[in-house]
Amino acid sequence: MTRASLPIYTVPTVDLSADQLAHILQPAAERLRAGGLVAIPTETVYGLGANALDSTAVARIFTTKGRPPQNPLIVHAANIQTLQNLVAAWPEHAQQLAENFWPGPLTLVLPKQPVVPSLISAGLDSVAIRIPAHPIARALIELADVPVAAPSANRYTHISPTTAQHVQNDLGAYLDPATDAILDAGPTTVGIESTIVSLLGPEPRILRPGMISRDDLRRVIPSTDYAAGISDLDAIDETTPKLSPGLSKKHYAPRAKVIILPDTRHFYAPENPRIGWICLDSIANAPHKNRPATVFLSTNPHTYAEAFYSALHQLDDLGCDSILVEAPPRTDAWHAIWDRLNRAAS
Ligand code: TXA
Ligand code: MG
Repeated sequence: MTRASLPIYTVPTVDLSADQLAHILQPAAERLRAGGLVAIPTETVYGLGANALDSTAVARIFTTKGRPPQNPLIVHAANIQTLQNLVAAWPEHAQQLAENFWPGPLTLVLPKQPVVPSLISAGLDSVAIRIPAHPIARALIELADVPVAAPSANRYTHISPTTAQHVQNDLGAYLDPATDAILDAGPTTVGIESTIVSLLGPEPRILRPGMISRDDLRRVIPSTDYAAGISDLDAIDETTPKLSPGLSKKHYAPRAKVIILPDTRHFYAPENPRIGWICLDSIANAPHKNRPATVFLSTNPHTYAEAFYSALHQLDDLGCDSILVEAPPRTDAWHAIWDRLNRAAS
């Protein structure tokens, strides 16, 4: 007997009425409500969603990902009210950041209410929350009518998925066709995980850099800074205490060995299909465009981030042993990309 195949619900890229969209999302919403796992598109990366108030469903997130239980999860909702019911405090800073960046790729860490299962918070007194900007994610969460716990939909330490195909390749074999599903709404647009900001102390502290940069946050709250250990653009020091538990250096690693090069003079190395390249799209690099296993990424950090994980997945899938990456600029706008590059190369 052949194993039933995992349902993949596809949202077409044409304009849909609210009713048409609800009709497409209904089966996925029902699976979420029934305690199943549903991989959902967000603007950052695909998440592996479960009803956040159902401890059994949340436990399956950990086993499906192979994720250690000391790594807490982010809870997603479609509106502020739902999230406010999960936290024990809503300080002025939370209000300011929510007003300026939600819905969007910003996660806030706040003291939690007892209603949040301790599995989600890995036993901590705090919970990470966000309202995603992706309209399909919000529509699904609204329809399911439950807060949705969702880490990135990849096996532990693997690269985060930016397409439904990435999810299927990495997690397909671990999901149960009887209860789970993947919702496909095309590639994500931000491309790397949300910025995580702790509001547990008097001033906002960035626990994980993302495409909402420190400069962006400082325009709203000038005292915002990186938490200790992620304060500069160099490698994250593995020995500093983990303010964001589970943020290990081993995260986001492709199979291939990643090496960051200061520039692409190294291009004159002999061609070798087992060596992949990620280069900045520039006139100087143009002559190399027809090389195998070479991906050109934009010199705009947002466009670069959108395609970065996809490039790593692509070169991994080609069977490259090494991926040589041309170093991008070292400015605040590139901080999150440097963070992921350093992790991938560690
Ligand atoms: O963009 C994103 O944030 C994606 C999409 C799906 O929303 N999600 C995501 O989840 O990246 P995940 O599980 O891969 O990363 C969640 C991060 C972990 O690094 C964890 O350490 C941190 O959130 N986190 C969760 N709860 C926390 C807490 N109470 N205190 C500090 N850090 C927390
Ligand atoms: Mg992750």
